[in-house]
Amino acid sequence: MTEQKILYLSRADIEKVNLPMKQIIGLLEVAFCEKGNGRVEMPPKPGIHTMPDAFIHSMPAYIPSMRSAGIKWVSGYPENFKRGLPYISGLMILNDVETGIPYAFMDCAWITAMRTGAASALSAKYLARPDSETVGILACGVQGRTNLEALACLFPIKRVYAYDVLPEVQERFVEEMAAWFDFEVIGVKEPKQAVVESDLVVTSGPILKHPTPAIERDWLRPGAYGSAVDFDSYWTSEALAQMDHISTDDHAQFQYYKSVGYFQQTPAPYADLGELVAGLKPGRMDEKERTLAINLGLALDDMAVAPTIYQCAKEKELGIWLSL
Ligand SMILES: NC(=O)c1ccc[n+]([C@@H]2O[C@H](COP(=O)([O-])OP(=O)(O)OC[C@H]3O[C@@H](n4cnc5c(N)ncnc54)[C@H](O)[C@@H]3O)[C@@H](O)[C@H]2O)c1
Repeated sequence: MTEQKILYLSRADIEKVNLPMKQIIGLLEVAFCEKGNGRVEMPPKPGIHTMPDAFIHSMPAYIPSMRSAGIKWVSGYPENFKRGLPYISGLMILNDVETGIPYAFMDCAWITAMRTGAASALSAKYLARPDSETVGILACGVQGRTNLEALACLFPIKRVYAYDVLPEVQERFVEEMAAWFDFEVIGVKEPKQAVVESDLVVTSGPILKHPTPAIERDWLRPGAYGSAVDFDSYWTSEALAQMDHISTDDHAQFQYYKSVGYFQQTPAPYADLGELVAGLKPGRMDEKERTLAINLGLALDDMAVAPTIYQCAKEKELGIWLSL
């Protein structure tokens, strides 16, 4: 029998590929169109939970038109920062669609960071006002950065308000983002200041089963869009009830999270991102609507991106080939 080879890509290899955010948003748009049309296989993710508010999830998906099949094994540990470790870590395995044989495995942190920002921006394409120019970022970590990067690909951003519970983290974010982009970045002392004047609001703090949310009714102004990357941890039930339209990325996944205790006060989403992209449900309906995307993070997002990373890495001769 022929020897099977598998390519291992470290985080550094994937960073060297450096797939542009705009391309990642495009890949997600193709994948979500497939999902909207019922052409994706993706069971809701099962998980194990070794610490309070932590998870290790198993996330398989198959997107036939992209010839993409595989799984992500990803953990999220909110207390890791105290040990100088990342919140999110894990691995992905890609399988050949015809033989099932694994042909690549890779670190998943970069892809998770980028595709989550891309999903927020893709939802915003359908649910935010195209002329949105102010952004509020609540929690200035990995997701704060990639969500801003993705929104900047699609919207004419002029000013950003940034808030983090840790002032030194917020300061670093303000400095880095101001140097990276040509818009104004302002650090604020209270979460409210990051919300009330923003057209696009991203909350990306820890996901907590029993949160004490900060964002109250009326903080999000009429016509604004929110992206709750951290589920309902930042948004009070009154603020959620005031939304004209709430979307998610997958109805079944949303129902699953509800069944295990999240989203108890959150109105049911009217659409998922596949339905929006495939044109099965309308996006924003008028200038004054308050809209919110609650994207839970899907295996589909990862499998939309990973094969392109693999192809580019191969072309650049990155990674290490191992015997299977
Ligand atoms: N929905 C998805 O698809 C998806 C995907 C990846 C990560 N996430 C979630 O995004 C969140 C952030 O992940 P990350 O990788 O950016 O983590 P990170 O550790 O890089 O950043 C988290 C930041 O939150 C700050 N913070 C903590 N409590 C806060 C509060 N109350 N207000 C403001 N800031 C606060 C921390 O100081 C830190 O800067 C996590 O909850 C993670 O589970 C969601």
